[in-house]
Amino acid sequence: MSAAPLPPLLLVGCGRMGSALLAGWRRAGVSAVVAVDPARPPGVDGEVRYVSRPEEINARLHPAAVILAIKPQEAEAVLPTYRRFTESAFFLSIMAGRRIAGIAEALGRSARVIRAMPNTPASIGKGVSVACPGPGVGEAERALATRLLGAVGKVAWVEDEALLDPVTAVSGSGPAYVFLLAELLEAARRERPSPRVRVNGGGGGGPRARSRPACSARWARWRGSRMRRCAIR
Ligand SMILES: NC(=O)c1ccc[n+]([C@@H]2O[C@H](COP(=O)([O-])OP(=O)(O)OC[C@H]3O[C@@H](n4cnc5c(N)ncnc54)[C@H](OP(=O)(O)O)[C@@H]3O)[C@@H](O)[C@H]2O)c1
Repeated sequence: MSAAPLPPLLLVGCGRMGSALLAGWRRAGVSAVVAVDPARPPGVDGEVRYVSRPEEINARLHPAAVILAIKPQEAEAVLPTYRRFTESAFFLSIMAGRRIAGIAEALGRSARVIRAMPNTPASIGKGVSVACPGPGVGEAERALATRLLGAVGKVAWVEDEALLDPVTAVSGSGPAYVFLLAELLEAARRERPSPRVRVNGGGGGGPRARSRPACSARWARWRGSRMRRCAIR
């Protein structure tokens, strides 16, 4: 049985991560999304309507969730514009380093805010997101946030917001370090080409025994003595 389509959503910021989420929601099935982003050409594409300014959001849109995928440094200027959704919707913020209390302060103290940290593999549906609920967030909001983040990978929840800092450092930023290492290795290899290193595995004693004859001889001596002891008994 396929799940019901996602309810109407408002996406603020449709850059790399916003687009990755949007693609996941479309795969999962969504009823209506308005995506606000000055960098994208306005228009309609299936269930998604792109607008460049919040003033262009259709007054008939009643989103269940407002997803904040703008850069953290834009939060102060942008968030107050979305205060009008505070009573009817909850906010799912993926902005790195922006705390729940600060987001709620900008949106109105009664705002229900879930803060989450996805990571780059979300762009191929293999991400890992860790989410933390703010005050007033109930089971229904958690369930929908799990669906929204789960559309691009796995989801875990923490109750202590402080844990999102190590999550940001390791899982959120980790892929960037892996890509950097791969790029550096590639650059180093281009600068100093070296013959291919080949690990020669196979049967018998395995690669360790083959590449370490001294160790292999010690192992044979130990095994021989064990065999002799067994035979005496
Ligand atoms: N990328 C990741 O791997 C990753 C992982 C975890 C969390 N995050 C978080 O996700 C957020 C977005 O990151 P990103 O990598 O997707 O950045 P991004 O590609 O720069 O996307 C941000 C988008 O928001 C647009 N924007 C700027 N002002 C806006 C406004 N007033 N209203 C609506 N949209 C506006 C930007 O347009 P302009 O380009 O014209 O400014 C841009 O298209 C950040 O807070 C980041 O910390 C990202």
